[in-house]
Amino acid sequence: MPTIVFVSPKGGAGKTTSALVLAEQLARSADVTVIDADPNRPIENWSKGGAKPARMTIVADADEENVIERIEEAAARTPFVIVDLEGTAAKIVVMAVSQADFVIVPTQGSQLDAEQAGRAFRVIQQQEKMVQRRVPGYRLPFSVLLTRTNSAIRTRTLAHIEKGLIAAGIPVFETELNEREAFRAMFSYRQPLAGLNPAEVANIDKAVGNAEQLAQEVIRALRKVQQQSTPEAI
Ligand SMILES: Nc1ncnc2c1ncn2[C@@H]1O[C@H](COP(=O)(O)OP(=O)(O)OP(=O)(O)O)[C@@H](O)[C@H]1O
Ligand SMILES: [Mg+2]
Repeated sequence: MPTIVFVSPKGGAGKTTSALVLAEQLARSADVTVIDADPNRPIENWSKGGAKPARMTIVADADEENVIERIEEAAARTPFVIVDLEGTAAKIVVMAVSQADFVIVPTQGSQLDAEQAGRAFRVIQQQEKMVQRRVPGYRLPFSVLLTRTNSAIRTRTLAHIEKGLIAAGIPVFETELNEREAFRAMFSYRQPLAGLNPAEVANIDKAVGNAEQLAQEVIRALRKVQQQSTPEAI
């Protein structure tokens, strides 16, 4: 506990990148299992670079048949479980969401991307409805993570999208994952951010700062969820 599932039916929304960025930060001080549930196994391939942090375990045999068990096993072993999924609305996505304590919906800042994110919200709502049959009032906490945003300027489109999401009652992380070469370089060099070479990749420090900010906000959000679900002792 907790299990954080990255969901976006839109391909290329930044799920794998943000899942790995978060996992690396958490693995600095805790044991983390990353379940690479994308049949293309991008995180397993990344780990073949041999630079996986010591406190990160990667499980890369998850499929539709066993994903629930794989998540349960991981949650029993490590305090954090992160699940990366393929960019479709496949059955495996619904199954992984059924095991989530928190869902992150990475979304790039365009209107079309934001509309596609609506499909992820419907998966979350369906899950809530299923659980509500047993647990009235159950809510599955989630948040949108705006990805690949410009760190220097805030476009009007992005501001408009964010306003629309918030007006629709959809939580949006204050932290955005900025567009940075370092986030791409993690995959081309098969390194965590901390293993990139400043002589080869620009602004690694800024990417690390961004990653730390994201991890801190996720931790705050998880704490809030925990406080809300644990009634105060009398
Ligand atoms: N913050 C970022 N800065 C720079 N490049 C990024 C960032 N986030 C993602 N990318 C790039 O965008 C592309 C898509 O990102 P990623 O693979 O993380 O998306 P995804 O949602 O996992 O895609 P899929 O649905 O195919 O699994 C990749 O080429 C990745 O390197
Ligand atoms: Mg991916």
